[in-house]
Amino acid sequence: MTGRLDGRVAIITGAGQGIGLAYAQRFCAEGASVVVAEIDPDRAAAGMTALRDAGHGDAVHLVQTDIADEDSAQACAAATVERFGALDILVNNAAIYHDIENQNNDPGYLKQVFDVNLHGAWLMSRACVPHMVERGGGRVINQSSSAAYLYQLPPMGEFREVGAFSYSQTKWGVIGLTKFLAVQLGEHGVTVNCIAPGVTMTEATRKQVPEEFMPFVTMMTAMKRELQPEDITGAAVFFASDDARMVTGQVLCVDGGMAMPG
Ligand SMILES: NC(=O)c1ccc[n+]([C@@H]2O[C@H](COP(=O)([O-])OP(=O)(O)OC[C@H]3O[C@@H](n4cnc5c(N)ncnc54)[C@H](O)[C@@H]3O)[C@@H](O)[C@H]2O)c1
Repeated sequence: MTGRLDGRVAIITGAGQGIGLAYAQRFCAEGASVVVAEIDPDRAAAGMTALRDAGHGDAVHLVQTDIADEDSAQACAAATVERFGALDILVNNAAIYHDIENQNNDPGYLKQVFDVNLHGAWLMSRACVPHMVERGGGRVINQSSSAAYLYQLPPMGEFREVGAFSYSQTKWGVIGLTKFLAVQLGEHGVTVNCIAPGVTMTEATRKQVPEEFMPFVTMMTAMKRELQPEDITGAAVFFASDDARMVTGQVLCVDGGMAMPG
């Protein structure tokens, strides 16, 4: 059987669980070799077990990685080339989401979230793109969120302080990073695109979004049903595939029809 990503080599950050793991499963099923670049050893081990159980043992490789650390990002790219002989696709999926402290307005905390969610995507791109350019091209796929577009909050009463909105700020930043990188890298054969998922039923969402709030979330979508991680993966395969060779600098909202920007 031929897959849409046969022979390609991808790094997927944060692929130990959730949407990143779903991306890894789908990329393997489409014929790609995948490096799981995950910071958390328990999540990494669980993700690798799930991938092996699905029959992808030969196509996956774990490189424990902290995307916010430049040396770690560089080591991940180098280890990928060493293991699979190439590097074609980077999926910048990792972020502080499962453990995000949405009400934390401390400037130090805001910086910490930026270091991972935005700066980490840049560090990984910086580490991986030279390997792609060497081979004549590649793909960077960034992960934003519908949270980047949802500016309208209900009235919050008396003014206390200026909020940090750390998660949303970083996810909006990822959209900007996508466009700047796309312009810089296009002439080198590298496309850079972005996926903005809506509220997706992962363990992280179950932790972050109260269960009783979910019907309200789905009511806000055109499709009126919950998003599953597998619903997001087709967009990543498209951006990674040859069909998207002239698509760059774009944001695709996979949210059941909620944000609808543009
Ligand atoms: N689930 C949703 O509703 C939703 C919606 C929109 C966007 N997103 C985005 O999709 C991505 C995945 O979401 P998820 O629900 O699977 O969340 P998640 O928190 O379960 O997954 C993120 C993964 O990234 C890893 N990670 C965190 N910091 C890292 C670092 N410094 N280096 C390497 N790995 C690191 C975590 O250990 C975790 O496995 C995130 O970027 C998230 O912001 C999620």
